[in-house]
Amino acid sequence: MNVAILISGSGSNMLSLIDDMTGSHPGRVMLVLSNTPKAAGISKAIARGITAKVVDYQTYKPNISAFESELQNQLEAHKIDLICLAGFLHILGSNFIAAWEGRILNIHPSLLPKYKGLDTHQRAIDAKDDKAGCTVHEVVNELDSGPILAQGYVNILRNDDALSLASRVLVQEHLLYPKVVRDFIHNISTKNSQ
Ligand code: GAR
Repeated sequence: MNVAILISGSGSNMLSLIDDMTGSHPGRVMLVLSNTPKAAGISKAIARGITAKVVDYQTYKPNISAFESELQNQLEAHKIDLICLAGFLHILGSNFIAAWEGRILNIHPSLLPKYKGLDTHQRAIDAKDDKAGCTVHEVVNELDSGPILAQGYVNILRNDDALSLASRVLVQEHLLYPKVVRDFIHNISTKNSQ
């Protein structure tokens, strides 16, 4: 199964997926797309031998459909079966999501349904939660709201600030996302072979 990873930033989750999809894994990362040329993950993907392209939202703005058509062109050109959003900070439109429903996953740095959107760690600290974490979910046409596939947990410590909490959550993200993607692809492959 051909996988594309969409990024906007450092690409640490992207690397955890690329590094897991080797050997007998039924998925392979065939393409990395970034919505910004500033994403540090682009050069990391290229260093792993993965095709990485920028579809710069700023050059299409406000023409969302032209931006998403170009994403779609790239995905079709690389015969992509599954999209993994990994630190992708652009909200995709309803037509794009409808076209990929059931074949697009996201990792979000909170225990959904708590703290959709940004600034998740500070919001968990401000709410005096004792636990934080991350969620892998299917993407639907409502922000951070699709069916939850799995969650990873960390305790919030007395001295935590948003940065220290984010770094511990990120460790859980790197464990959780590859595992969920592996199971997701395995389940699809098993269904297709029945
Ligand atoms: C990660 O915590 C990821 O969950 C989050 O961005 C951080 C950086 O990801 N994604 C979102 O907030 C998406 N709404 P990265 O290190 O993989 O680039």
